[in-house]
Amino acid sequence: MLSRPENGAAVVAASAEAIAEAGRLLAAGALVAFPTETVYGLGADATNEAAVSAIFAVKGRPNFNPLIVHVADFAAAERLAELSPLAAKLAAAFWPGPLTLVARRTPGSGLAVSVTAGLDTVAIRVPENRIAHAMLQAAGVPVAAPSANRSGHVSPTLAAHVAADLGARVAMILDGGPTSHGLESTVVDVTGETPCLLRLGSITAEQIAAVAGQAVQRSTEAARTGDGLEAPRSPGQLLQHYAPRALLRLDAIAPQAGEGFITFGPNPPAHDGPSVSLSATGDLDEAASRLYAALRALDDQGVAGIAVMPIPRAGVGEAINDRLNRAAAPRVG
Ligand code: TXA
Ligand code: MG
Repeated sequence: MLSRPENGAAVVAASAEAIAEAGRLLAAGALVAFPTETVYGLGADATNEAAVSAIFAVKGRPNFNPLIVHVADFAAAERLAELSPLAAKLAAAFWPGPLTLVARRTPGSGLAVSVTAGLDTVAIRVPENRIAHAMLQAAGVPVAAPSANRSGHVSPTLAAHVAADLGARVAMILDGGPTSHGLESTVVDVTGETPCLLRLGSITAEQIAAVAGQAVQRSTEAARTGDGLEAPRSPGQLLQHYAPRALLRLDAIAPQAGEGFITFGPNPPAHDGPSVSLSATGDLDEAASRLYAALRALDDQGVAGIAVMPIPRAGVGEAINDRLNRAAAPRVG
């Protein structure tokens, strides 16, 4: 039986029984939050229009922003989308793992229209997280899942983050502990001859280029090569994303009074307010995995501002800086 603690959220340890129950709930049209190697996802049967609509309602997500469909393996992905030789090459190198491929959806995919927000493409990924994989197999349906946070908020890297944002509005939150990568998947459009990077993640542009055997286009470049005003290649990238409540001050050398302080590397400047270290050894992968929890923890302590030390832009540092820049962008509303 599931227990419902104070905040009404059904957080359950991801035992074999709980994973089987999650699969049944998904197949029956309910919403289940689950861990992946990147961030927690808010899942629904991607072929069930009502279930997918509930994702948008629960998150407060604009309906023009399409969802990622999660499947257990390449064969399941092939039933939903036309995967070119380029797509197959990237999938062979990075699936299961934190890579999302945007490809043309097949006419008979059976996907609910709202999953792709009316686009003729679909974003697909095969997560490597053991719990996610077992849940997908138990569900037996493709699972549409955005990050399991309120729209515009920081993505969840702990089950407790999901409970804080969405609480009792989901049937079950499968607790798999902290996610290992901590940043959302790298998103690559493979509808053309050249891979186009739509969202940075822990798989870097250099890694994609090495496997593809060619340079990777960036979404901003793709938009500029079109005639006149072109629709954004990835609608979600338009929105301000990943923002904590507190205002961010980036590349801070030293904290100011009243600020929360996010540090990186050994021997950071002293601070007598709240501070969180992303990595005392200067390890960028560790920093990525801790970033969102750090932002949420300082927000929870009620600081008005958060100063963040410079993070090198090498490797996954580029994705970390991308998320920090979004979180620090002027607020739109
Ligand atoms: O790591 C992740 O990708 C997590 C976990 C749960 O899998 N999911 C996630 O989903 O970050 P979400 O919805 O927060 O971000 C999906 C991104 C959005 O920027 C969306 O616009 C883009 O993928 N996207 C989805 N479908 C697309 C499509 N057909 N064409 C272009 N971009 C698409
Ligand atoms: Mg998201």
